[in-house]
Amino acid sequence: MTVHELHLGVNVLSDGMHPAAWRHSSANPHWFTDPAYWIDIARAAERGTLDALFLADSPSLFQEPDQPLVAPPLALDPIVLLSTLASVTTHLGLIGTVSTSFEEPYNVARRFASLDHLSRGRVAWNVVTSSDPFAWQNFGHGPVPDEQPPRAERYGRAAEFIDIVRALWDSWDDDAVLADKRTGAFSRGLFRREYTSTTLRGHLGLARVPDRRSRVVSRSA
Ligand SMILES: Cc1cc2nc3c(=O)[nH]c(=O)nc-3n(C[C@H](O)[C@H](O)[C@H](O)COP(=O)(O)O)c2cc1C
Repeated sequence: MTVHELHLGVNVLSDGMHPAAWRHSSANPHWFTDPAYWIDIARAAERGTLDALFLADSPSLFQEPDQPLVAPPLALDPIVLLSTLASVTTHLGLIGTVSTSFEEPYNVARRFASLDHLSRGRVAWNVVTSSDPFAWQNFGHGPVPDEQPPRAERYGRAAEFIDIVRALWDSWDDDAVLADKRTGAFSRGLFRREYTSTTLRGHLGLARVPDRRSRVVSRSA
């Protein structure tokens, strides 16, 4: 008999999923930057035996910049926030969204690898390419579609970006660190793999969490 597993998680958006949730009589409109609010949710998710807490993200206000904000934004950087939540939970999975369009692979690989260590192997990266036109304007592009990279270009960059991040996560052999106090050899000095493309060649500055394979998820097409 095939046994199917059901995995449950929670997707937390600022002060709530509904744009007017912050107006509820029991809501505090300033919660979206309050660490206590996020910590309460993470602890409740863990108590409720959910598998993971998910943070969406876009580096923008999702609206015209000269208009007043209508709802609390996705304000806190997901990786920074997940770092706080990792320290107050022990087994809850932590999934953070980072776009491949406004970062360099090394930075993303390093941040997730760091968070994976700090959370003892509970992290996954939700990859997006950012179709949000307001995000593109925050990175020097114009407001109309012609002034922003077409979809195929976004996804082409994303495919290579993910390959490079995975290669960087795997750039240390599991037994690369010797830490031999007697001989003074800290590592073997040779890493198993180098990623070489036209734009990048190198290693990540830290080994992955032992016995962990990289985890990448995506809500994009
Ligand atoms: C349920 C759901 C959640 C999404 N969350 C995010 C997100 O957190 N950040 C983001 O930039 N895009 C998010 N997206 C957008 C997708 O990544 C994708 O860009 C969008 O569906 C437009 O498609 P395209 O990129 O193929 O043009 C989400 C899409 C869906 C359906």
